[in-house]
Amino acid sequence: MSHTATATNAAAAFARELPYYEPVGNECALFEQAYRQRLPMLLKGPTGCGKTRFVSYMAAKLGRPLFTVSCHDDLTAADLTGRYLLQGGETRWVDGPLTRAVREGGICYLDEVVEARKDVTVVLHPLTDDRRLLPLERTGELLEAPDDFMLVVSYNPGYQHILKSLKPSTRQRFVAMSFDFPPPRVECDIVARESGLSHERCAALVNLAGRLRELKGQDLEEGVSTRLLVYCATLINAGMPILEATRATLVEPLSDDLDVQEGLLESIRATFG
Ligand SMILES: Nc1ncnc2c1ncn2[C@@H]1O[C@H](COP(=O)(O)OP(=O)(O)OP(=O)(O)O)[C@@H](O)[C@H]1O
Ligand SMILES: [Mg+2]
Repeated sequence: MSHTATATNAAAAFARELPYYEPVGNECALFEQAYRQRLPMLLKGPTGCGKTRFVSYMAAKLGRPLFTVSCHDDLTAADLTGRYLLQGGETRWVDGPLTRAVREGGICYLDEVVEARKDVTVVLHPLTDDRRLLPLERTGELLEAPDDFMLVVSYNPGYQHILKSLKPSTRQRFVAMSFDFPPPRVECDIVARESGLSHERCAALVNLAGRLRELKGQDLEEGVSTRLLVYCATLINAGMPILEATRATLVEPLSDDLDVQEGLLESIRATFG
């Protein structure tokens, strides 16, 4: 199958500790309410701002198995629902991640959902309105989603292409929330916790990130992510000189344009000399 599916054993996740997630606003309460009221959820936001981590955290917190699918332009409805496969001379039906989540009462998370083929929405529509049904045409089954099933989708509006946006009839089936980079104090906590670098040194990096993010729009598609700040702090914590670490994590991944890179480096030199 062409999708990436991960099932997390909820009980095991629960027995271990929850994934680390630093709340930024009321997102945990909103997600939990949506789950309890059996409503699907749409998360929007730039790359590396914590969407995936948030969903892993909430799945573990609610004690549900998580089925994650990274959508791409070849992803079809059958990749989600399942297909007949030839196994040892016999054809056997194998559930896809969406079907497994429905059968097992889990959370199905479709990352970058705008990338998926149009036939995927046909499957999602009956599942995301009050019917909560998953018809499996090939097996003739009509599955009713249990109360503990939840569908979560995410996408990055920054890359949104006019041909690749969600139709109103799809997006208006979801409770939605926007993610953005966390406020400086929270981002500093996150970077320190994830990298092991001191709060003081992380604060300087977060401060720098704020300045680099202001350059967004000037030939930069997207501002530096929390993910890249974590990379930067991790390299510095491992002993790499600051200018080297910042170039490798806060400049090179952002742009190939030498002028844009120079603009970023200028801000970095002004901060760390
Ligand atoms: N609120 C947060 N709490 C804990 N860690 C966070 C938080 N926000 C961001 N991070 C850190 O940033 C990294 C990137 O976050 P994540 O992978 O969730 O981004 P994303 O929004 O899913 O990005 P993409 O759209 O590229 O998939 C995480 O691995 C984690 O280290
Ligand atoms: Mg993600």
